[in-house]
Amino acid sequence: MDPDDRLDDPAGLHGAVLDWGARSRRDLPWRRTRDPWAILVSEAMLQQTQAARVVDPYERFLARFDRPAALAAAPVADAIDAWAGLGYNRRAVALHRAAGQIVERHEGLVPRELDDLLALSGVGPYTARAIMVFAREVDIGVVDTNVTRLLNRWWGHPAPNAALQARADRLVPPGAAWAWTQALFDLGATVCRARAPRCGECPVWEWCVWQGRGPDPDQRGRPQATFAGSDRQGRGRLVSALRAGPVPLCDLAAVMGWPADPDRALRVADGVVRDGLAVRDAANAALVLPGVGDG
Ligand code: ADE
Repeated sequence: MDPDDRLDDPAGLHGAVLDWGARSRRDLPWRRTRDPWAILVSEAMLQQTQAARVVDPYERFLARFDRPAALAAAPVADAIDAWAGLGYNRRAVALHRAAGQIVERHEGLVPRELDDLLALSGVGPYTARAIMVFAREVDIGVVDTNVTRLLNRWWGHPAPNAALQARADRLVPPGAAWAWTQALFDLGATVCRARAPRCGECPVWEWCVWQGRGPDPDQRGRPQATFAGSDRQGRGRLVSALRAGPVPLCDLAAVMGWPADPDRALRVADGVVRDGLAVRDAANAALVLPGVGDG
């Protein structure tokens, strides 16, 4: 049978993925809740951070900010502080802003509609759909990098974003979007991995056009940027230092790990200020987290 025909009649594929998912599902705290606020927090944290590293910060964050109103009422410095260990701190600023928008526009309740979700800070098509599926069990596709890789391999060729979303939507088994999506995420994380996929253990090998042979349809030859020595590493060091207290401008280069390059330190620190992660305390010629030390 032509593989495309098999994907047009996906009952067998559905059964194989859902059976495998039920047997292999990773027990993660955001899978034990249907609270859309908890799901939004988890998805914000999971976007660029591995699940194992998210578990502790997720539980601490929700213990501190159990509702959007609790986060909205806190200074943004508290959100940045609670983000420790996760990296990409701009996500904390965006989540704080989204909490304020949820209070202002939706009476403190995470909205149900796709367009309302997409209008929140930091919420893109992936996060909006993840909330609809994981909190409300709406039958729509959720496309992240893992799902993109799976679909590109199953079809044997990459698709542009809109086509990929349409494929993902069509493939959801009616009434089972939650279990389906979690299973796809687990399959991508543990079997259909970007590097060294374990095709021998794959429950859906017979539906896959690629089957591990020839050039990987998901590889576009983009090498991963290295973290060591990057601007992002310097940004992370600066925000970590700010959690402990003000950083004098004259110490920036040392704190960011570039003692011989103060120009670079200033340029990258300017970006941190522009992103709302720090403010200048002019009187003391220092940077501080926003909302602290300016009273
Ligand atoms: N990454 C994003 N969402 C996830 C989820 N629900 N489970 C595991 N990893 C994820």
